[in-house]
Amino acid sequence: NELFFARNHGAIPEVDPDTYRLTIGGLVERPLSFSLADLRHSFPSQTIAATLQCAGNRRRELSQVTDIPNEVLWDLGAISHAEWTGVRLRDVLAQAGVGAGAAHVALTSLGQVARRGKVFGYGGSIPLDKALEPEVLLAWEMNGAPLPPLHGAPLRLVVPGYIGARSVKWLGEITLQAQPSDNYFQSVAYRLFPPSVNASNVVEDEGRMLGELFVSAAICSPLEGERLPDDKLTVRGYAVGHGGVPVEGVEVSADDGATWARATLLGEPRPWAWQLWEVQIALPPGERTITARAVDASGCTQPVDPAEIWNFKGYMNNARHRITVRVGNQRPLS
Ligand code: MTE
Repeated sequence: NELFFARNHGAIPEVDPDTYRLTIGGLVERPLSFSLADLRHSFPSQTIAATLQCAGNRRRELSQVTDIPNEVLWDLGAISHAEWTGVRLRDVLAQAGVGAGAAHVALTSLGQVARRGKVFGYGGSIPLDKALEPEVLLAWEMNGAPLPPLHGAPLRLVVPGYIGARSVKWLGEITLQAQPSDNYFQSVAYRLFPPSVNASNVVEDEGRMLGELFVSAAICSPLEGERLPDDKLTVRGYAVGHGGVPVEGVEVSADDGATWARATLLGEPRPWAWQLWEVQIALPPGERTITARAVDASGCTQPVDPAEIWNFKGYMNNARHRITVRVGNQRPLS
């Protein structure tokens, strides 16, 4: 758990597990409130292997197309994998009874954030249809250990296949409503705009609210700029599918996409988990680029060039991942 990436828009709150309550309200037949013990005893516990990925993962590559100020310039590391244990959100919603007109499930944290002169609980929402899927958990355990405070103790939502921002930590309130949440992190942040939009001409409502992650693959080894002694190497990385459809293949090119070598997928495919992969390739001496791309079982693949998908907040970079390495006894890259 210490290796899992962390992303926090505000301070980490101290929540007393003994007095903690989760409330469910809005368009429900019976507003409810649960202690942690209530949740544990009232519903069957579930464990799900799910990868969390921040919408800002690989923002650095987008920032190399055009500067992205005031955002964290993540490399490949805003993604991690864990086994989460808790109860299904849908079981809890069934006990509250989904009311007429409910279409979104809004989530509000006990963790406070400050934006635009206001202090409020971090929040967001997911469509009701997603909330009723079996993979969405209210989790209190991470990899068999109690959820650490950094990752949302005592209770967080885990929304596999969605941007990490929807997996609200230190969850305090669930509200069923007709519209998406009006929380800043749903209504303003985490919207996707075309490359023509920037901070000075943006019309916030016109952006696409982010939810499902896109198919992608990234090279974790070798590293960008690495100097490699000889011409044979093993390239390793991760790939993620879309909408719970596992990645079907990962391919790696050492000649800018003219030819592709198929990588070996490691382990059994699991719907909400990243797919680790590796492939051996040979590279002639000199400065070389290595490119990776994934294809999922529905045939979806990745954009070729990050410039096509540049957006001023730097979200959702799933362009083919390219790194440059130097092979043989040449001068190191500057
Ligand atoms: N929940 C709260 N309450 N506050 C936050 O700042 N950050 C979100 C999400 N849940 C956040 C939150 C974002 S942007 C991401 S990517 C994930 O938490 C990261 O989860 P992690 O820190 O456990 O990796």
